[in-house]
Amino acid sequence: MKTKAIVFDAYGTLFDVNSAAEKCKDKIGTKWEVFANYWRTTQLEYTWLRSLMKMHKNFWDITEDSLDKSMKVFNINKNMKNELLSLYKILSPYPEVREVLKNLKKRNFKLAILSNGTPDLLNELVESNKLNNLFDDLFSVEEVKIYKPDPKVYKLPIEKYKINPDEITFLSANTWDVSGGGNFGYNSIWVNRHSSVFDKLDFQPKNEVSNLTQLLDIV
Ligand code: LAC
Repeated sequence: MKTKAIVFDAYGTLFDVNSAAEKCKDKIGTKWEVFANYWRTTQLEYTWLRSLMKMHKNFWDITEDSLDKSMKVFNINKNMKNELLSLYKILSPYPEVREVLKNLKKRNFKLAILSNGTPDLLNELVESNKLNNLFDDLFSVEEVKIYKPDPKVYKLPIEKYKINPDEITFLSANTWDVSGGGNFGYNSIWVNRHSSVFDKLDFQPKNEVSNLTQLLDIV
C-alpha cells in the first residue's frame, strides 16, 4: 500500500524532550540528564494512569504535575520551575528535522503531527521553531480527551484524510507508541536514536531508523 500521509509523534521524535533541562544544566548540575529522564517517564506514566482512571487532564497540566514531583525527588531549587516550563514550550527539534520535512513536502505527502500535546502547545512548538509551514495538520489528543496509545487517538488522521490506516506511515521514537500505531494498522516505523531495546507489545515494526533522514530512502 502506498503511503499517502506521513504522521509524526512530537515529543522525543521531532523535538528533544531533554533539551529544556539541558539548557539549565549549569544551574542543575550533572544530574540534569537523570532528572530530565525521570520527568519524562513520570509525565508519560501520568498520561497512562489518567487514561485508565478516566480522569483526563491536559498535557500541559500533566507536564507541570510531573515536573513538581521530579523537582522534589531530585531536590531541584523551586526557582527553576518557571524556567523549565517556559523552555518546555519551545523545545528544540532534532538537527535533521527541518530538511527532512522540506524534502517530504516537495514530494507531496500530507505531513502531520499526532501528539499528546495540546493544540496550543503544538502550535507554539512548531511556530517557535519556524516549522509551521511544513505541516498540513497538528492532531492533538485533546480532540478525544484520552492519551496514546488509545486507538481513538490513532483514528484522528484516518477520519480527517479519509484513508486507510496502512496508507499512513507513522514515526515515533517511543516504542510503545510505535506499537500502538502499528496495532491500529499504521505502517509504523521506530525512530531508535539511542540504540534502545524495543518493547514487547505484539507489534514489530518492519522498519527502524536511527534518525529521520533515513526515512527518505524508505517512503
Ligand atoms: C507525544 C508523546 C507521546 O508527542 O511523545 O504524543
